[in-house]
Order: sequence, then structure tokens, then C-alpha cells
Amino acid sequence: MEHSFSPIMQNIAFETCNLNAIYAALPVHPDNLNKAVEGIKCLQIRGGNITVPHKTAIIPFLDKITETARRIGAVNTIRLDGDKLTGTNTDASGFIKSLEAFPLKPEGMVAGIIGAGGASRAILIGLAESGVKSIYLHNRTIQKAENLINEFSPQFPSVCFKVVTKETLQSLSLDLLVNTTTVGMNDNCSPVVLKEFKKVNHVVDIIYSPLITPLLKQAKELKIPCINGIEMLLFQGSEAFKFWTEMEPPLEKMRDHLLRHLSNG
Ligand code: ATR
Repeated sequence: MEHSFSPIMQNIAFETCNLNAIYAALPVHPDNLNKAVEGIKCLQIRGGNITVPHKTAIIPFLDKITETARRIGAVNTIRLDGDKLTGTNTDASGFIKSLEAFPLKPEGMVAGIIGAGGASRAILIGLAESGVKSIYLHNRTIQKAENLINEFSPQFPSVCFKVVTKETLQSLSLDLLVNTTTVGMNDNCSPVVLKEFKKVNHVVDIIYSPLITPLLKQAKELKIPCINGIEMLLFQGSEAFKFWTEMEPPLEKMRDHLLRHLSNG
């Protein structure tokens, strides 16, 4: 999903920081993943992002993965040090950083999450690692939500995880509500009706196209602070930039470029 925007934001970041580096999208056939990893080592490519369908399949070919990547079960960023490749996942930390836009600190927070796919996994881990108090998870397919909670509950004993129906979700007072589903991307629909909720203090929709989804439109009408998926897209990229370069990313330049590209596209 973030794939086509990564060259835009990384190349402007390299240029701004006077780094002699370029970022290019290189498609790899699943049968050639092992050879591609060997190629990265032979060519001494400093790092890169890994995208669908390789995020999990690449793990056995790496020398090391971070704890977050292990928990998420997927790698989206790699870095080469000498002949050793390390994999990490910046989706979780990118999401947490994106909350600074409100600003909002996750510690002690009550969060409601809609959706139980790959993005939800990363966001749940990010929130749990950052010390949220409770996570209420709602998904169309209940079993998928239950599988996630059964996996994560033992890893984060201090976080209260619960799978809930839409009705229960609406009856709660939430510090944060996050849509991780694709509802609102192409269908002009919202996964929930915000005015049916008891209380919601902040809303995140991780969709960035359209920039204002029907869910965000409701949040704006109800004057609930809200952000779209641009911030998570930006911060997963800026965290990757830091992982490769150990430099501070030029966030404003990267955001400007992303927005300009999105509004042209
Ligand atoms: P990603 O990796 O981006 O998270 P995904 O793994 O395909 O994408 O997950 C998509 C999420 O959107 C899932 O939670 C999915 O719900 P199901 O698990 O029930 O499939 C949710 N989703 C997609 N279309 C939906 C719809 N029309 N109504 C409700 N949820 C929907």
C-alpha cells in the first residue's frame, strides 16, 4: 500500500540531507526472494523496504529481526551491516509517532480498533508496547479478531484486550478509535456511525486516499480531533529512514512531497 509513495518521500529525504543515495522500487518474484537477498548483500545495498507479498516470507532469509518485527510476524524494513541483514517493522512505531499530530500519548489509554488484518496487527502491537490500558477490537469476521487477541494477550499481560461487537464498541468511552479496515477507501462508506458512540476523543483512519473518508467527515462534523493515514505512512517511512541513516528525517519536506504527490495523483 505504502509502496508507490516510498520513493517519493525517501528520495526527497536523501536529497535534503545531502546523502549520496537513491531509493528505487524493485519488483521481486516470490521464487527469487532468496536470490534477491543474496543480491542485496553482494551489491552492498544499505537497506530497503519489503512489501507485499514478501513481508513474512523474507524472515527466514534474514540474519536477525527485531522484537517488534517478530511479534508482528512481518518485516517492512531491512538494513545491511557488513554482511548481516537485520529486519524490523516500522508500521507499529510509525503509527504511535503519528499520534503526536493530535498530540496524544498512548500510556493508560482506552482504544477501540476496527479491523483485524495486517495493519491492525501492527497497530495493536504498537499500542500494547506503548502501555495502553485497554484495547477493544471489533472485526466483521469475529474469529480473526479472537485469533489476534488470543495471540497477543499472553505477551502483554498488563493490557486488557477484548473482542467486542459494534454495539459494545459504541457503548464505550474511547480515548482513541482507529479504523484499520479498507472500508471508506473506494466505497464512500464508514465502518461505524460515530454519533452512535457514547464518547470518542480522537479518531484515526489509516486510509490516505481519499484524504477525508466518510468516517473522518463524521469526526469533523462532530468536532472530534482526527487524522488520516498520511501521518502513519509518513512516520513508517521516517522511522525506516532513521534505521538506515541514523539521522533525523526531514519530516516537513517528506510530508509536503507526499501530499503534493497524493493531490496530483
Ligand atoms: P491490511 O493488511 O491492509 O490490514 P487485510 O489484511 O486485507 O488488509 O484486512 C482488511 C480488514 O478490512 C479486515 O479486518 C477485513 O475484515 P474481515 O476480516 O472480516 O475480512 C476488513 N474489511 C474489508 N472489507 C470490509 C467490509 N466491507 N466491511 C467490514 N470490514 C471489512
